[in-house]
Amino acid sequence: MNRTWVVVGATSIIAEQFAHLAAKKGYALRLVGRNIHQLKLIAADLALRHHISCCVVPMDATQITLPLEAIFAHDDTELDVLITHSDFTENATLSHDAITHLVHTNIHSTLQLIQAYWSIPQKEHHLIYLSSVASTRGRAKNSMYGASKAAIEVYLEGLQQAATDSQHITIARLGFIDTRQTYGMPGIFYKAPPKACAKACWHANQYKKRLLYYPYFWRMIMGVIGLLPFFIYRRMKI
Ligand SMILES: NC(=O)c1ccc[n+]([C@@H]2O[C@H](COP(=O)([O-])OP(=O)(O)OC[C@H]3O[C@@H](n4cnc5c(N)ncnc54)[C@H](OP(=O)(O)O)[C@@H]3O)[C@@H](O)[C@H]2O)c1
Repeated sequence: MNRTWVVVGATSIIAEQFAHLAAKKGYALRLVGRNIHQLKLIAADLALRHHISCCVVPMDATQITLPLEAIFAHDDTELDVLITHSDFTENATLSHDAITHLVHTNIHSTLQLIQAYWSIPQKEHHLIYLSSVASTRGRAKNSMYGASKAAIEVYLEGLQQAATDSQHITIARLGFIDTRQTYGMPGIFYKAPPKACAKACWHANQYKKRLLYYPYFWRMIMGVIGLLPFFIYRRMKI
């Protein structure tokens, strides 16, 4: 049976680069997201370059009812899943609506997607979730975004604990990557290329890694930050 990568949030440049890697290896692709026009352009490019089947499924993550049947249709294929979509609203601009939007996008939809995927009977499951180093310690600037990533990580850790040898979940804790999310942000000392990030995620999942930090040096940085007593952490302007 052939395999298909379902890429959720496929207009992210990291997701697009990941889709190219999967397509190069001969996987079929299903691109999921809300910007249909952009997704169709990406799908046409992937299909043309790599001669693979690539379709598009519309999904707005803020909707209560997600098109789960269309996203996870699996009549003639087994599915692997990359979850990329995210809302990055910072604490300073949170309002009632913004909180609802962030919780639906980052938590509600992600839990629904993972749960639906995990209950499909397949020989193998491969799931990659793009998290953030912001999940490891609350930061004044964006602790609600960080909390949403941490919530999914905890849920996934439980699935990892119960997983069989043929079920692989990789949590990718990303530092700064050169994408739309970080465009124009001041004070970033290094932004990693999205293509290298996609490659690291691909390899981590193929090698059955449970947790990836990318760029890799963020593991050390977050190790140190995690150990700081709160009275010191509080004074840091990061
Ligand atoms: N870039 C970084 O430095 C960095 C650091 C840590 C973690 N990450 C994580 O990496 C992932 C990819 O982010 P990125 O940097 O590539 O930024 P991005 O280009 O802004 O990607 C965000 C993706 O989420 C989608 N999305 C947002 N709201 C949605 C909704 N309501 N329904 C459906 N799709 C929605 C966007 O679709 P549209 O095109 O329609 O907006 C886009 O595909 C995210 O999970 C992010 O948290 C990135």
